Amino acid sequence: MRKLIVGNWKMNGTLADLEAIGNIADVAEGMEAVDCGLCLPATLIGVAVAQFPILAIGGQDCHMNESGAHTGCVSAGMLKDVGATMTIVGHSERRADQGESNADVNGKARATRAAGLDVIICVGETEAERDAGKAEEVVLGQIEASVPGDLGTDGISVAYEPVWAIGTGRVPSSDDVRAMHAAIRSKLTAMLGDAASGVRILYGGSMNGGNADELLAIDNVDGGLIGGASLSAEKFAPILQAASTK
Ligand code: PGA
Repeated sequence: MRKLIVGNWKMNGTLADLEAIGNIADVAEGMEAVDCGLCLPATLIGVAVAQFPILAIGGQDCHMNESGAHTGCVSAGMLKDVGATMTIVGHSERRADQGESNADVNGKARATRAAGLDVIICVGETEAERDAGKAEEVVLGQIEASVPGDLGTDGISVAYEPVWAIGTGRVPSSDDVRAMHAAIRSKLTAMLGDAASGVRILYGGSMNGGNADELLAIDNVDGGLIGGASLSAEKFAPILQAASTK
């Protein structure tokens, strides 16, 4: 399976950063063996799509409805309208900051697929849940409730992002990543059938140029969702490079 490396810019980036996006596009253009995407703030999607057609550009969230009285929200159709090809849903920062439930995430994933965009559905345990020995139970519960089991596997990826690893510089051991990704694969197979072997399971949480090689070599790690290390071509390039050799 080709690796998928997606940058998550979170609430970072203004028009002044188009140069950085252009530098990332230049790097991505030379990496034919890997799929590369950049999930940008909504304000930058249209202009980045227009300037850098080589890049797959995505959103970081969408509303579950197509349109209506939802001040401040953006629908999947609107993302598509300005040229996005994917969106993240259910990132732990949204689950925590906006109180999004698994049911909300499921609705957003459905809306994304209905609009014809690919979706990256995020799951992950907190540190307290891991310490309590509940990491797998929590993550598989999130998968069960957040992944629309009746939609098939087309255009669906899952990102396992331990909350305690996001932005902290800490990553789980390779054994823990291997075990969780295997458990997610089994769960997806139980829900979606054999086609689940084609669903890409990304790892996210402090992936960088120094650890990408090891993380991306783990069984069932089919790519990465990268926050801080996706903000410049300098930091993102070694991750893309590591993925292209797997
Ligand atoms: P990080 O963020 O790479 O900065 O840890 C990953 C994410 O939140 O998607």
